[in-house]
Amino acid sequence: MMRIDKCLAHLGYGTRKDVKKIIRSGIVSINGVICTKEDFKFDEENDELSIDGVNVLYSKYVYIMLNKPQGVISATEDGLHETVLNCIQDSTKGLFPVGRLDIDTEGLCLISNDGQLAHDLLSPKKHVAKTYYVEISNPLTSEHIKLLESGITIDGDELCKPANVKILTDNSLELTIMEGKFHQVKRMMIACDSEVTYLKRLTIGSLVLDSELELGEWRYLTDQELESLKQ
Ligand code: URA
Repeated sequence: MMRIDKCLAHLGYGTRKDVKKIIRSGIVSINGVICTKEDFKFDEENDELSIDGVNVLYSKYVYIMLNKPQGVISATEDGLHETVLNCIQDSTKGLFPVGRLDIDTEGLCLISNDGQLAHDLLSPKKHVAKTYYVEISNPLTSEHIKLLESGITIDGDELCKPANVKILTDNSLELTIMEGKFHQVKRMMIACDSEVTYLKRLTIGSLVLDSELELGEWRYLTDQELESLKQ
């Protein structure tokens, strides 16, 4: 059971004061009955909540995949640039990007308010694989590929875990890494005497970027995607 004002605040309908106003205005109904009391308790899992005639689904946790475009920052707030949260139309409180993509990196960005899932996916101990599509300035040699596959040293002294390399063309590859060091893919390519010219994340663990999503488009994860991501 949950208080209606708390529920609306969680769903992003504004401050406590805003929410109180909304409830008192008589546009909130529960199981078809108008509710004007902000301390009214209801069963948020089973009761039918509607606001201004529109049914609203409550869930504590929200999981979103965004096809992040370039120029957008993986942060919750930024004074200068658009953030990944500005790209989505879900105002649930406490949403954040799970892991960071550089401003010029495109592709799969997971957004959630589930701290436990974020911790599990980002923990270096869990070795969650992330696959990137990478375009590079100079082709990799077979020596470079061997180094990447056995664990390349970046910036002179930082050892990476073995990566998976799938060469596509002279200037493009898919790279799968099990960790998330700062600018890792770019630094790995520099260590191979090359440079990233385009970078796109394709997967995080079992989660695959939906090819139907254009740049800047987003959708909620399916139950199936969420279940396998949590395993
Ligand atoms: N590696 C990078 O260098 N940049 C990213 O955005 C992600 C991985």
